[in-house]
Amino acid sequence: MSQLALKERINCYNPVMDSIHLQDNILSNSDIHPIFYTGDSLIVMKQILSKSIDCCMTSPPYWGQRCYENGGIGLEKKSDDFVENLLNVIKEIHRVLKDTGSFWLNIGDTYKNKSLQGIPWRVAIKMMDEQGWIMRNDIIWNKHKGAMDSSSDKLRNIHEMIFHFVKSNDYYYNDEAIRLNPQTTIIRKGAIVSSSGVCGIRYKRQIELSTSLSKDEKEMAMQDLQQVLKRVECGEIPDFRMIIRNQQRATHSNSERVSGRAKELNEKGYYFLFYSKNGALPTDVWEILPEDTQNREKHYAVYPEDLCKIPILSTCPRNGIVLDPFCGSGTTNKVAYSLQRRSIGIDISEEYINIAKQRVSQLHLNLL
Ligand SMILES: C[S@@+](CC[C@H](N)C(=O)[O-])C[C@H]1O[C@@H](n2cnc3c(N)ncnc32)[C@H](O)[C@@H]1O
Repeated sequence: MSQLALKERINCYNPVMDSIHLQDNILSNSDIHPIFYTGDSLIVMKQILSKSIDCCMTSPPYWGQRCYENGGIGLEKKSDDFVENLLNVIKEIHRVLKDTGSFWLNIGDTYKNKSLQGIPWRVAIKMMDEQGWIMRNDIIWNKHKGAMDSSSDKLRNIHEMIFHFVKSNDYYYNDEAIRLNPQTTIIRKGAIVSSSGVCGIRYKRQIELSTSLSKDEKEMAMQDLQQVLKRVECGEIPDFRMIIRNQQRATHSNSERVSGRAKELNEKGYYFLFYSKNGALPTDVWEILPEDTQNREKHYAVYPEDLCKIPILSTCPRNGIVLDPFCGSGTTNKVAYSLQRRSIGIDISEEYINIAKQRVSQLHLNLL
């Protein structure tokens, strides 16, 4: 696109764009108040420096399903055109993300002529094949309830996809910030045992009675088990499991070809699995109720605040910047603000940007 055409589009969506120094505003500022821009995200993002954003989280419009206030992406006649337009925006996201950055894409699917279009996967596969993204997770967002559906020849649709993409293997990930249910050792009948009550007696018996372990292997297994029990006793690890040859199955597979653990089991006769003191990581199925649309009269989005918490906590450092190029009523920015991260929100609709600003200012008042 020529510079002139670009400027025309900028002016078309945002007459004051020329005076915006997007990057200056946010980079030189320690204020965590979100910065919002009205405009076509593809154009506005051109103002953002390459490799300056830590985390992008967004929910683009569904294809052919909703008519937002100011048009924009999603109104294409063919799904291929929608995918292409979205990929153009995603290419810009790739440019502005730091090499350590993450992109979380929440994307819904659409039926046409009774056929589910598979849009989330069509976008995701092109992202990997054509733009070099690395997919770390495909998360099922179980919304528990879907839109009204009168069909009687298919199941009700109640999930959406959220993809976690990164640019490189060297990406920022704070697992400690999102672990669930931290565990500690417990005392049972006066003895310190693991958080799930493992005290080692059953494993000791299995080792002694094993017909599969050699004498040397039994000795080594017993010694190592004693060491692990000591670590549990002093609180260094909250819990563990022991896998013994021909007693328990290897975690993923018994085939050495697919499991390094299976190899260890065959060669050594046993191995241990240790649980983190800080709790387990969340799974890739998220049970989150959609936003109650009555709360937002003018903007019909189901995207709830809880959806943004894991992405922002795990992949945006405290002083980092979050970007939502389809911010609508500003949920991502509101959550970023409440988690004390700076953020940029872009939407083509001035009305939605005003709602976003209002929601953030209400939060600001509550935080004061
Ligand atoms: C699914 S909604 C986002 C909802 C948002 N997560 C929220 O919290 O309300 C998609 C948004 O994309 C906006 N949009 C569509 N095309 C756009 C474009 N080319 N540039 C910027 N925003 C666009 C729409 O106005 C709409 O608000």
